[in-house]
Amino acid sequence: MGKEQDLIQRSLVVFKPDSVQRGIVGKILQRFEQVGLKIVGMKMVMPDEDHYRAHYEDIGEMITRRGEKTFQYNLAYMTTGPVIAMVLEGVEAVPLVRKIVGPTEPKSAEMGTIRGDFSHMSFGYSDAKGIGVPNLVHASGNVSEAKKEIALWFKPDELYDYSDVRAKFTR
Ligand code: CDP
Ligand code: MG
Repeated sequence: MGKEQDLIQRSLVVFKPDSVQRGIVGKILQRFEQVGLKIVGMKMVMPDEDHYRAHYEDIGEMITRRGEKTFQYNLAYMTTGPVIAMVLEGVEAVPLVRKIVGPTEPKSAEMGTIRGDFSHMSFGYSDAKGIGVPNLVHASGNVSEAKKEIALWFKPDELYDYSDVRAKFTR
């Protein structure tokens, strides 16, 4: 593989229960498609607590960073319904997807990002109310997290290699 191939990355995106329940998955997905990211896997699932513990703590170190109470609020939010999990591929896709999604707190997310354009919530309010922060989508934080998350959410045969007619920058 050439050096440039190392810059082709895959990122895990999860449409959280609020985006599914609000019926805005299509609008959000368009943000990723319109920059030319390639969908290489997609499915609707309703993961259990063990799966979310592996995702948020074993891989994302959320309890370590934010505490068990915040994890529990988030778990209650994430288990309110099914989610749509997806793997997106493209040039430096991991930081690109994070840029499109915006920061964790909708209050701090700039307009033009998914979280800024489609949600409003602050850490202050969610913590005071004892709820998770409904911020529409999960996106892998870095390349190493992305690799572990994709292995957790998808079997190898659920990811597809196919030619993309735009395909100058994909595998
Ligand atoms: O999702 P992101 O990588 O931006 O943030 P994180 O620090 O990895 O936290 C994971 C998720 O936990 C967030 O996306 C929020 O939905 C949720 N969270 C929460 O419910 N309450 C907080 N105070 C912080 C995060
Ligand atoms: Mg994270």
